[in-house]
Amino acid sequence: MKKVKARACSNIALVKYWGKRDTKLNLPAVASISITLDSLFTETSVFFDQKQTSDRLFLNGEKSTEKDRIRLSKFIDLIRKRAGVNDFAMVESINNFPTSAGLASSASSFACLALAASRAAGLNMDNDELSLFARIGSGSAARSVYGGFVEMKLGKREDGSDAVAHPLFSRDHWDLTVLIAITSEEKKKTGSTDGMELSRKTSPYYKPWVESSADDIQDMRQAIKEKDFQKVAEIAEFSCLKMHALALASNPGLIYWNGTTVDLIHKVREMRDMGIPVFFTIDAGPQLKAICPSDYAAKVESILLEQPGVKRVMKTPLGGDATILEEQDI
Ligand code: DP6
Repeated sequence: MKKVKARACSNIALVKYWGKRDTKLNLPAVASISITLDSLFTETSVFFDQKQTSDRLFLNGEKSTEKDRIRLSKFIDLIRKRAGVNDFAMVESINNFPTSAGLASSASSFACLALAASRAAGLNMDNDELSLFARIGSGSAARSVYGGFVEMKLGKREDGSDAVAHPLFSRDHWDLTVLIAITSEEKKKTGSTDGMELSRKTSPYYKPWVESSADDIQDMRQAIKEKDFQKVAEIAEFSCLKMHALALASNPGLIYWNGTTVDLIHKVREMRDMGIPVFFTIDAGPQLKAICPSDYAAKVESILLEQPGVKRVMKTPLGGDATILEEQDI
């Protein structure tokens, strides 16, 4: 048996995933395209221990809640089954960024866990299989297996075996910087999993959302390939605002933004009118992510920092693949 430590970077979607076609297998109703974030990552170490009587999870140095431990155990069960291991796992995970406030912590967490736990259980999964396992943990996690520009496939098969991510371009394709304006560090009230189910069940915009997504994917793929910043900006903002319109029209409505988030949307568009190439995207939380060519990052950062309500700004280039950091025989 081995103790394995891995690292996986977080990611943000430029074409959003919101809604599932199968909740058991966690199959997305739409494909998505993301960029991986270098400076926001999870590091997780795992070992299987025959002396333990249950799985144990420590998050950022503290014993996890029972809810998180149960989510972990369900995931580890899949790894145990695949590897033919019966022992319980000891899992220690650290995020170097705020958790559960719309910064995609579940994405890096499950990609990292899939890698560390599978290796600790003696498996040597290829990236397709890692992405598949990560997806079962969390849809967006399937994308965090890879660095750079990543597409999560919708897949056609009922068993979900083709609903995996694959890399579109490495991070060297285009030197972009992501600036995350933190407007609140509070835990969000409705997480993505519950939020997207509510939208599926109650939002009148759900069907058009699902139907219009394939066009966004195709257009975004092309725009990234051509490094057409204007086009990427247009599609990303369209996908983001469409997702939030869908969430807002759920019943009861999901409002992930605060006043500062809205002010920042206007600010980013103002910057663009001034000739600064920058666009925004926002996930299921109040933080605004501004994306620009790296040459403009310092300028965008200083403007974001001046805005009332912005607590701090995190800045990151694009990140690489999930990797093993340490492997120790125990
Ligand atoms: C708004 O991947 O967190 O960030 O599959 O239920 O774990 P589950 O959902 P999750 O949802 C991410 C939603 C999003 C958009 C995106 O990352 O594509």
